[in-house]
Amino acid sequence: MRRAALPALAAVCAALCPAVCSPALAQEAPIPPAAEALPDRVLHDGIGRDGIGHDGSRGSGPVMRGQYVVVSGAGAGLRGACLVCHGTDGAGDAAAGVPRLAGQLDWYLHKQLDDYARGTRPDPVMGPIARALTAQERADVALYYAIQAPPPGAGGGLPLPTAGGATTAGPARGETLARGETLARQGEPRAGVQACAACHGAAGEGVPPGLPALAGQPAGYLEEQLLRWRAGIRRNGPVGVMAHIARHLPPEDLRAVSRYYASLPPARAAAAPGP
Ligand code: HEC
Ligand code: HEC
Repeated sequence: MRRAALPALAAVCAALCPAVCSPALAQEAPIPPAAEALPDRVLHDGIGRDGIGHDGSRGSGPVMRGQYVVVSGAGAGLRGACLVCHGTDGAGDAAAGVPRLAGQLDWYLHKQLDDYARGTRPDPVMGPIARALTAQERADVALYYAIQAPPPGAGGGLPLPTAGGATTAGPARGETLARGETLARQGEPRAGVQACAACHGAAGEGVPPGLPALAGQPAGYLEEQLLRWRAGIRRNGPVGVMAHIARHLPPEDLRAVSRYYASLPPARAAAAPGP
């Protein structure tokens, strides 16, 4: 249902907000050097990755302020309280297409909230919520989720195989996963598509500050993102790299690679190298 509404959404957006949709505004600042990623910023605030201050207190630092946004929704109100959909632990909800935020990169999460707010990543649910938060609240809540431990265990995002080993439609599950793994490791050189692993890490664990973890995200969520880039709805990201990839692979491949990453156990990206 949501998918069918997408082309219509794009048309409405293009008609109503040429300013927001203009390529000039969709251009992005380059990703800052890794030194600006999580550990330094957190340490400057006197709080470690676990959210506990150096003096052992939980204090009123950014993590506590982020937690307040998670449970109260701040300006977005209780219906926009993050815990309703993402949980206080940030585990997400695969069946509802809600991504895991726990352990995702701080800088990346913060940027996505800003992108939802300014409209380069239009979304009917997250757009109004992100706009209702202050810039400080977006930063704080991104940090809160980034330091939560990713849920343990195997990837939770994969639909269960049917008795015959095939998913409800299309090729057998094994074939789809094998194709997805090939794309992840080798890309599709004939179409000018690089290996996903070159940017997103060997196990889809992400690379600080701006290359998100894909491992263990819901398959439907990942596929939806790729289809939105393909349709020109999601327009964020540096130099249009993901739009290029999504347009140069057929939809079956976008589905296969999404299922492959959903099947991997969620992992936290290695911390950015220290100074
Ligand atoms: C009503 C359910 C709902 C609520 C409440 C909600 N979210 Fe979301 N969130 C979603 C869905 C659905 C998506 C996927 C949207 C898309 O496809 O872009 C999402 C996506 C995100 C993403 C993008 C993650 C990524 O990997 O790119 C971030 C960040 C996020 N939400 C943060 C928040 C924060 C912070 C709050 C609270 C202030 C919040 N959300 C409240 C449903 C919700
Ligand atoms: C040249 C680097 C590069 C390559 C190669 C690459 N990506 Fe990405 N990808 C990015 C960047 C940068 C972002 C973050 C964009 C943004 O800021 O919104 C991203 C974001 C994503 C997201 C959104 C995740 C989320 O939480 O919303 C998905 C899904 C994704 N990539 C899938 C893939 C797949 C699948 C491949 C291989 C077929 C791939 N990427 C190859 C750079 C790359």
